[in-house]
Amino acid sequence: MSERAGSFNLGALAFDAYGTLFDVHSVLAACEAAFPSRGEAVSRLWRDKQLEYSWLLSLMDRYENFWTVTEKALRYACQRLGLSCDPATHTRMLESYYRLAAYPEVPAALARLAVKRRLVILSNGTPQMLAAVTRAAGLTAVFDELISVEAVGIYKPSPRVYALLPQRLGMPAERIGFVSSNAFDITGAKAFGLRTFWVNRQDATPDGLGYPPDIVVRTLAELADRLAAART
Ligand code: LAC
Repeated sequence: MSERAGSFNLGALAFDAYGTLFDVHSVLAACEAAFPSRGEAVSRLWRDKQLEYSWLLSLMDRYENFWTVTEKALRYACQRLGLSCDPATHTRMLESYYRLAAYPEVPAALARLAVKRRLVILSNGTPQMLAAVTRAAGLTAVFDELISVEAVGIYKPSPRVYALLPQRLGMPAERIGFVSSNAFDITGAKAFGLRTFWVNRQDATPDGLGYPPDIVVRTLAELADRLAAART
């Protein structure tokens, strides 16, 4: 345990969306239907390039919304793998982003975590993408707000993104717990000054930049247990 029990005084929890609440690789079925036996390669490359484009744009001081970034990343993945994707298939694959599956433990864990604190999402996704995926998973009611980076026109891990949380929630950064499965997101949030809870779903190697998470868990259910034990 990296936290001292009872040392948190959280007023709110903010969740990353893609990879944390919603499984980006649930596009696999759409990828596999379009490109039999290449679905996994498409799905993995698509996600990797989506994040890379978000970082590139941010460093370049340019902003294109996450729908556009996701669309361009899909084009890249198909091109790189030598797959030709007709417009109807492209649209169908892209639109699967509106209906990504929540990880199985997510609804019940969020209900537990919401008992004592406000819950919000903070994501690269556009407001429309976040509203759609949250609605499709039946999770709209549990969140106070779906906060999109669109408000600041730059992607994670820019501190301008994480600064949206104390601004919108009206509480200091150290009273906000940020939950993400993406190591780069945890590093950015911690550098900004949030409490960070890493959901290490894939048993990934921790980032070594020197901004370690306050808690590491495998699932959101485990996070609910840990925070209950820490009486936050
Ligand atoms: C998000 C990306 C990082 O939801 O997954 O912000």
